[in-house]
Amino acid sequence: MDQISEVKQKADIVEVIGNYVTLTKAGRNYKGLCPFHSEKTPSFMVSQELQLYKCFGCGQGGDVFAFLQNIEGIDFAQALEQLAEKTGVKLERAQYDPEAGKKKLLFEINHLTAEFYHYLLTRHPSGKNALDYLKNKRKLSGEAVKEFKLGYAPETWDTVYQFLLKKKYDPNDMADAGVIVRKSSGQGYIDKYRGRIMFPFTGMDEKIVGFSGRTVLDRDPKYLNTGETAIFHKSSFIYGLNKAKVAIKQSGAVFVEGPVDVISACQAGIRNVVATSGTALTAMQLKLIARYTEDAIFCFDSDTAGAAAIQRAIELAEKEDLNVKVVIVPDKYADLDDYIKADPQGAKAAIKNPVPVYDFFVADALKKNNKESALGKKKIMEELGQKFSKVTSSVLLDHYIKLISKELNLDTETVHGILSGKSKPDADNLSEEKDEIRNEGYTLSKRSPQEYLIALLLKTPLDTAQSILYKLAQKDFTNPVLQEIFTELKEYNLGRKRKFDIKYFSNTLSEENQNSVNELYLWDVEHITEEPRRLEIELETAFARIKRETAKKELKELTDKIKQAELEKNTKLVGELSEKFKNISERLL
Ligand code: UTP
Ligand code: MN
Repeated sequence: MDQISEVKQKADIVEVIGNYVTLTKAGRNYKGLCPFHSEKTPSFMVSQELQLYKCFGCGQGGDVFAFLQNIEGIDFAQALEQLAEKTGVKLERAQYDPEAGKKKLLFEINHLTAEFYHYLLTRHPSGKNALDYLKNKRKLSGEAVKEFKLGYAPETWDTVYQFLLKKKYDPNDMADAGVIVRKSSGQGYIDKYRGRIMFPFTGMDEKIVGFSGRTVLDRDPKYLNTGETAIFHKSSFIYGLNKAKVAIKQSGAVFVEGPVDVISACQAGIRNVVATSGTALTAMQLKLIARYTEDAIFCFDSDTAGAAAIQRAIELAEKEDLNVKVVIVPDKYADLDDYIKADPQGAKAAIKNPVPVYDFFVADALKKNNKESALGKKKIMEELGQKFSKVTSSVLLDHYIKLISKELNLDTETVHGILSGKSKPDADNLSEEKDEIRNEGYTLSKRSPQEYLIALLLKTPLDTAQSILYKLAQKDFTNPVLQEIFTELKEYNLGRKRKFDIKYFSNTLSEENQNSVNELYLWDVEHITEEPRRLEIELETAFARIKRETAKKELKELTDKIKQAELEKNTKLVGELSEKFKNISERLL
């Protein structure tokens, strides 16, 4: 067996996908909310027997490699590598990712460096001040220090460099990992981080991809971060996501400003918190988050920079179709970390109940302007007029018109005029409706009855299936693939007494037919096939519709033939054909 098949055989698709999507059993398959598009009712199907997945909402589908490629945004080689590692299959690596060897070295260097810094912080005299600072000033527990593997980089020039040299690493690799830098004058290297508390950046596979170091000496920059490396890309990295992903699936993702905010929130029991590190939020990070949740909650510092960051983040997130909410940090606290330290209950409640972005817009506009002055009111209304121009729901508008007119002591008419300036008739729930329609199931109205019938038959008890198959003929199927599948299925089922085995059946087919059968097997029809009465009705309806289509087709052919016979003045034939026509039309009534 080649290595690809070996990996595929050892990795169970249900387990792999289960790391990203909550799957529930639906008969023989599993189903869940598609991680590739947002939906409220599950149309994402996974088959353990076939080791395939398919979303009937957005069309995404494939095997376990395809899933990993799509969800992690990686190529085949990387997906193979990840799974090989998980399943313990040794790959002849170089063949797949030419950089794999280098990346492995960088991971090793980062891992050893993090362990070393962690040791210095927690066990070594040189880290004592830093540890005191974390515990007393930042109120972080020993457990949190351990869980996030915080460390201390001493004020010396080359401690990590010497440590890694002893471990026989090449200075070029250390520099490529970003833990040492070339001396700006003269030759040689020095440690990149000196006199800093170290926050390792941990990726989704728990490997350390980089670091952020906060100065303890009041040096600039306050936080020094790993630059781009072969294993670290800051625009797609999210701090804390490895730990938060499950909580995020349940309660949405709360974005805070920095690692300390993440850790202190975690310590307070709020686990769905992540941060960008050293960058403004990027579209890539939001796309990544959108795989886990539809809800993005922003909790940035209460200063003007924080408010500007939220405004920007909201625009980006709305482009990604995320539902955006905001946690407003009261003015008296600088950031979430402060808020949590001073009022843990209040902070927790604020995070659990984020406010709609519009509340944030109103609060922000009021904060920036003097609402008592006429000019201040004008500015506030100008700003809000813009923000509310996209709101189409009259309920939302009404709510905010009342709130704002009260706050500014303005006439509701005036506020109404400005806020609804460009508004359209209420259309807010249109997209939701579409979503529902897309997901309501795969009923006859939307799918071709031919496909639907085969999908049902694949899961129908043998004797019932046989009775239907017996009554159908090849001519009832118009699509050549379905026609072949039908023929094979009929042969398979009528010739056999033993239980239908999808894998066995699928394997007897040509590749094209196999793909179609596999997809039909992933249709979520278990709620029908497992209820005998319902199944009977659906089978009958589908059967009748197929027969109707066949009849219509035959009638059309007959019409053509009759016309031809009339042209040829073949009265006998015209009579025969008309008789046939009459019989079939009667069947159609
Ligand atoms: P802040 O200056 O608000 O830092 O920057 P903070 O998190 O409140 O830091 P403490 O509480 O004083 O320790 C917010 C975030 O921006 C990034 C860091 O990730 C920081 O957490 N940042 C800030 C940098 O990357 N570099 C800097 O020089 C400053
Ligand atoms: Mn802070």
